[in-house]
Amino acid sequence: MNIILLGAPGAGKGTQASRISDAYKLPHISTGDIFRENIKNETPIGLLAKSYIDKGQLVPDEVTCKIVEGRIEKDDCKDGYMLDGFPRTIAQAEALDKITKIDLVINIDVDFSLLLDRLCGRRVCKDCGESYHISWLNGATSCKRCGGELYQRKDDNEETVQSRLDVYNAQTAPLIEYYSKKGLLFNVEGNNSPDAVFAAVAEKLDAMKK
Ligand code: AP5
Ligand code: MG
Repeated sequence: MNIILLGAPGAGKGTQASRISDAYKLPHISTGDIFRENIKNETPIGLLAKSYIDKGQLVPDEVTCKIVEGRIEKDDCKDGYMLDGFPRTIAQAEALDKITKIDLVINIDVDFSLLLDRLCGRRVCKDCGESYHISWLNGATSCKRCGGELYQRKDDNEETVQSRLDVYNAQTAPLIEYYSKKGLLFNVEGNNSPDAVFAAVAEKLDAMKK
């Protein structure tokens, strides 16, 4: 099964992707994670991506599409995969349509008023990428999953978050209608707890497998 996870910054795409990937053995492909890995390794793509990510803007479509195209051709994707944070523009969605068939688009729908707190309070594991919120950590500074050190993403500050939300509204939100028209959209209530969101997603995925 080929799945897309759609949702505003902080909607919980990464949180749910980690659970879905564990439960359904699907490779988790996050373009944001790929860019952050490139930034850490100071590759040419990383240097280019950094200039956009730090301002909360999108990395150009042609760069992003090429990365995803190369990644989904890999052997581990032959039985399915899950895209997190891609596509993010109509042009990216059209490029994806040319190279693959998508089975389901899960749109995590969250009130915008919750997103600033979720993002500014997020801590991420340096090693496995798991996301936490400071209110759940009780002062812990390491990952419950792998023990890695937790850090705060550079784009998780108030000013950059605002710009990411504006970009989402202008460029990514139109994808909801794009996939709805294709009959692929599954809306899930993202204001609920991560467990409740996952339960709704799992119910849908289990029904599709039957
Ligand atoms: P990316 O890394 O994809 O960031 P994003 O889309 O802004 O989304 P986030 O990762 O911030 O949020 P999330 O939905 O994964 O939430 P999470 O689960 O962590 O992209 C970063 C940048 O890379 C972009 O701005 C752009 O520049 C570039 N980029 C990436 N893809 C691109 C593309 N296709 N084209 C061009 N440029 C691209 O959760 C957030 C917080 O909320 C955490 O603290 C978490 O613990 C908490 N939380 C999660 N779920 C819940 C819940 N149900 N209840 C309460 N709290 C919750
Ligand atoms: Mg994420």
